[in-house]
Amino acid sequence: MIEQTLVLIKPDGVKRGLIGEVTKRFELRGLKIVGIKMVRVDPDFSKKHYAAHIDKKFYLGLEKFIISGPIVAMIIEGIDAVEVVRKIVGSTEPKGADVGTIRGDYAHTSYGHADEQGKAIENLIHASGNSDEAKQEVALWFSIDELHSYKLSHEEHTL
Ligand code: RTP
Ligand code: MG
Repeated sequence: MIEQTLVLIKPDGVKRGLIGEVTKRFELRGLKIVGIKMVRVDPDFSKKHYAAHIDKKFYLGLEKFIISGPIVAMIIEGIDAVEVVRKIVGSTEPKGADVGTIRGDYAHTSYGHADEQGKAIENLIHASGNSDEAKQEVALWFSIDELHSYKLSHEEHTL
């Protein structure tokens, strides 16, 4: 199934200068970026995006982290894109994320360290967790006129 999913390069990823590295990984896998922008999130928007986490003990630290600098937001389209993108991103805790994933290659922090510091875990990327979450997040972050329809060159050749 062709799906769209939200990816955010969080403030730590932007500050690390990883915008190119991250977008490259999706592009080289053959996925299509159909929308992309740099934004600064405020506390109200953080509460909308992280509504499922508001009651968790790490929420305040998460909000502080996500509003701490600009974010690059993008919508990625492709076959089963939600699952494929989550695989490319890797598991939530960078310490345990597989080498070869973005979190496993460019970060190594742990839950233990984040807890000691009273912070949310800084893991470079957000990616929608499932198809329902992806539909809601695409609509929350992008308007219809910010999303583009075009064919990648490999689609031109195969379709
Ligand atoms: P994301 O939503 O950002 O793609 O990450 P995820 O699905 O892998 O993780 P999720 O459970 O949705 O948590 C959202 C973000 O909250 C921060 N977090 N910190 N105990 C902690 O310190 C903690 N737990 C979660 C992370 O930044 C995580 O990505
Ligand atoms: Mg999540």
